[in-house]
Amino acid sequence: MMFSLRRFGLHGGVLCIASMSASVANAYSMNVANCPGYTLGSLVESSNGLTARLTLTGPGCNAFGQDIAELTIQVAYQSSSTLRVKIFDTAQEQFTIPESVIARPSAPAESYTGISDLVFNYDPSPFAFWITRRCEPDAMPLFDTRISSLPQTPIAPLNSSDPSTAFDAFPLIFEDQYLQVASALPYDTNIYGLGEAIASSGFRRDMGTNGGTGTIQTNWNRDIKDPIDENMYGSHPIYMEHRFNEITNKSTSSGVLLLSSAGADIFLQSPPDSNVSFIEYRMIGGILDFYFFSGPTPSDVIAQYGAIIGYPMWQPVWGFGFHLCRWGYSSIWDVEDVVARMRAANIPLEVQWTDIDLYHAHRDFTTDPVNFPGDEVARFVSELAANNQYYIPIVDAAIAVAVNSTDMYDPFTSGVEQDVWIKNPDGSLYIGEVWPGYTVFPDWFSANVQSFWTEALKNWSELGVGFSGIWLDMNEASSFCGYSCGTGANFSALVPLDESGRVLTAWPECYNATKWGSSGNMDIDGVSTNSCTTNSTTTTTVVKRDIAAGQEAGFYINDPPYKIHNGFGPLSNHTLATNATHQGGYVELDVHNMFGLMEEKTTHLALKELFPKQRPFLISRSTFPSSGKWTGHWLGDNYSKWQYMYLSIQGILQFQIYQIPMVGADTCGFYDNTDEELCTRWMQLSAFTPFYRNHNTLGAIPQEPYRWPSVAEASRTVIAIRYALLPYWYTLFANASLAGLPTVRALFYEFPDEPELFAIDRQWLMGRDILVTPVLTPGATTVEGIFPGRGGVIWRDWYTHAVVNATPGDLTTLDAPIGHINVHIRDNAALLLHHCPAYTIAETRAGPYALLVSLSKTGSALGTAYLDDGISPPPTPNRTVTFDVANSVLTIKTSGTYVVESKLAMVTILGAAGPCVVTVQGQLVSTWSYSASAEELVVYDLAIDLGEDGTNISWQ
Ligand SMILES: *[C@@H]1O[C@H](CO)[C@@H](O)[C@H](O)[C@H]1NC(C)=O
Ligand SMILES: *[C@@H]1O[C@H](CO)[C@@H](O)[C@H](O)[C@H]1NC(C)=O
Ligand SMILES: *[C@@H]1O[C@H](CO)[C@@H](O)[C@H](O)[C@H]1NC(C)=O
Ligand SMILES: *[C@@H]1O[C@H](CO)[C@@H](O)[C@H](O)[C@H]1NC(C)=O
Repeated sequence: MMFSLRRFGLHGGVLCIASMSASVANAYSMNVANCPGYTLGSLVESSNGLTARLTLTGPGCNAFGQDIAELTIQVAYQSSSTLRVKIFDTAQEQFTIPESVIARPSAPAESYTGISDLVFNYDPSPFAFWITRRCEPDAMPLFDTRISSLPQTPIAPLNSSDPSTAFDAFPLIFEDQYLQVASALPYDTNIYGLGEAIASSGFRRDMGTNGGTGTIQTNWNRDIKDPIDENMYGSHPIYMEHRFNEITNKSTSSGVLLLSSAGADIFLQSPPDSNVSFIEYRMIGGILDFYFFSGPTPSDVIAQYGAIIGYPMWQPVWGFGFHLCRWGYSSIWDVEDVVARMRAANIPLEVQWTDIDLYHAHRDFTTDPVNFPGDEVARFVSELAANNQYYIPIVDAAIAVAVNSTDMYDPFTSGVEQDVWIKNPDGSLYIGEVWPGYTVFPDWFSANVQSFWTEALKNWSELGVGFSGIWLDMNEASSFCGYSCGTGANFSALVPLDESGRVLTAWPECYNATKWGSSGNMDIDGVSTNSCTTNSTTTTTVVKRDIAAGQEAGFYINDPPYKIHNGFGPLSNHTLATNATHQGGYVELDVHNMFGLMEEKTTHLALKELFPKQRPFLISRSTFPSSGKWTGHWLGDNYSKWQYMYLSIQGILQFQIYQIPMVGADTCGFYDNTDEELCTRWMQLSAFTPFYRNHNTLGAIPQEPYRWPSVAEASRTVIAIRYALLPYWYTLFANASLAGLPTVRALFYEFPDEPELFAIDRQWLMGRDILVTPVLTPGATTVEGIFPGRGGVIWRDWYTHAVVNATPGDLTTLDAPIGHINVHIRDNAALLLHHCPAYTIAETRAGPYALLVSLSKTGSALGTAYLDDGISPPPTPNRTVTFDVANSVLTIKTSGTYVVESKLAMVTILGAAGPCVVTVQGQLVSTWSYSASAEELVVYDLAIDLGEDGTNISWQ
């Protein structure tokens, strides 16, 4: 398949093509066809891996840049499960992510070379490598860059107007502005991750099989209303493969991280008539720094990735409460009224947020003197605090430029004095445009930025904005114009953008405004009256790109020759220009995708300094590998549509892979108007996701949960369940921060050998034990869901405790009237709960605990709970409590130093046979009841100290 193409100039006149299949007659193939590859030499083995030299084998092809003649490859066995393959230019001129931005573990003290799960194999010329499992040397490799392994037939462009979507197999290409490497994958294998993405194919990525178009995942962070199948706010070049062996009916998972911040296209494709699929990386800079993870389970892969880039931050416990926000509050008194109405409707509100309405002239670190005066904001925040409630304001990434000499705006002027702003190549301030007009942007590489940013947050807090956490927005970074649009401009000529007159008129699918009017009110009274069907799928469109020739000399900072599929076209469109410069000699082209990450780290460290006794709380839009160490994430600016509610599930599952487990969608939808039915279903759904916030945009009808009786009622019900489950959520998050384990799981994580689960993204598991099956369509009174385990697992209804009569391996229809969301408990589980969910998390935690046990067919159950004060930054006193049931005895084991004040008041055992006697610590008790129909034993009026080891309860 190596076509013997001659090179033809693309600049001058007619393009001649000789002896070449029409399907590959395009500029992309032209450019890469003659790339010679590399030859490996000077190999030195060490106890921990190897180092070698890669030398360009022939004349450079200069496909989309200049070939680099000398490379170094380092292979390091990081642990028994993780293998690193790093290929870089020996001169080290290419951009490499500094350890100061993402700290990585150093080489281990002990050698894993002969014992690691993974093995590095290579061909010296043309250089290619492949990764195998030590225990399966003859199986198809996990990753394989050999030309002979890749599809042998060239693929015609996926889109005839986009030549860059053609493929052929070539050796490694490593140029200053273009790197390309491909790996064969099993045909139609299961790939997850590679975001940030909203994929029309669902959580499982489209491999170009079964009628799919394949995947083009572009990594170039951008500010865009949640798009489908295009690049968006964050970049996460990590994927998990779940490989199913149809002969053994067993699966194994593995993972691949390409740790690079370069703009990139990552393709997943399967050629027609081929028996292999492949992944191809095309990057416009940087180096190749691969990490391979051996799994073998999905949760193992996720945890192994976390061990490299860092486990997620510890969340303060109040972060799991219900959050409320909108853009378009008219004043602090308006916000105060919303808080009061939530209380009057008895809908728990833990955290009230404000958007940019708070600001004076749209400027960060200010308050509007008329509508949000600082002393009134301070009073409001202190009243929240007195009620155990919290407040979070927004911080936009760009900082307004002072427009004239009498314009006093300290964050700008002190930033100039401290030299913290991003520059133009000539050293002048780089000036873009965002909400406040012309703006500068913090240079997170600058020497003084940490102290500057900490000071700015401190001053704001002293102005009255008593925040408990920070919301970071617009940090892709967003700029409303292209390039350095404000440099040299007359600053006073540009006034802040005023959108105050905006009125949105679009509605959810199936909402009939003629019938129901403009309130969103559908008079739902227990039953939905909506009957219409929505489009469940969307189509993928491949955007037209141009391919520039790469033969020019020099380096194209503003316009790299290979055009990645950025949805905004030119890389500098709607963001910082790629030639903007940072301290340390970095250019925006190389570090663009890390702006959000670096802001998150700086903000997190600022909050730690300002409030050393508290865990920071952050939610941010633009993310990158290791962002979870510093922040949580919301899924961005979605729409009030049924489709987007469904799509939020894949987003939450993706961010578990990315090690940013604190994630959630704008509940009830952001853009456009919501309606009563959609908001009911969405409030229900999000109650079982980590970050639970209802957020709305300017100009849309209000959507606070008290606006409609059905939404209010459903919200009270699900928030009570969420707060009851808080010890369980909290334990899942402790296991994320301690060991990198995913909090929300796709069904196949727990049941890896059941292929019918591999594409399920309309249901999810909270940890191991709670299965959520939300309604995702209007007008529904039932929902279909699958119950994993193929009949070998007992699933019990959360509300009735009845055993589900599920169809093994197939969909089961469940009742789902408007006020009801289906939640089921797995067997062999013991869940510590709060017995009395209250208005706030603090009041809930002050009450007693309950234990809910769901026995397996053999009468066993096991569960653990991690407990601490929920506020202090670890290390802090903590306690692990284990609940173990066997032979009709529950034994409670406990260890740690945290003193648990609340007592365990009630124990419920599901699946227990009818007992005659119940004992607690060997003493007969009469405080129990038994329901034979539900097989449910309840032991009540207990006061068990969870700090006391060895407590037991038995029933005979
Ligand atoms: C300077 O800018 C401020 C803020 O926009 C404005 O109120 C003031 O009138 C301007 N002063 C002059 C002298 O232009
Ligand atoms: C919307 O409601 C009006 C009034 O009830 C009705 O005439 C019309 O057919 C409805 N439209 C749709 C698309 O159902
Ligand atoms: C379904 O898709 C079609 C074609 O794109 C569109 O015209 C129609 O409005 C969509 N219907 C709904 C309910 O979204
Ligand atoms: C820049 O992006 C905007 C969308 O915000 C788009 O309309 C415009 O065409 C893009 N510019 C270019 C040169 O592609």
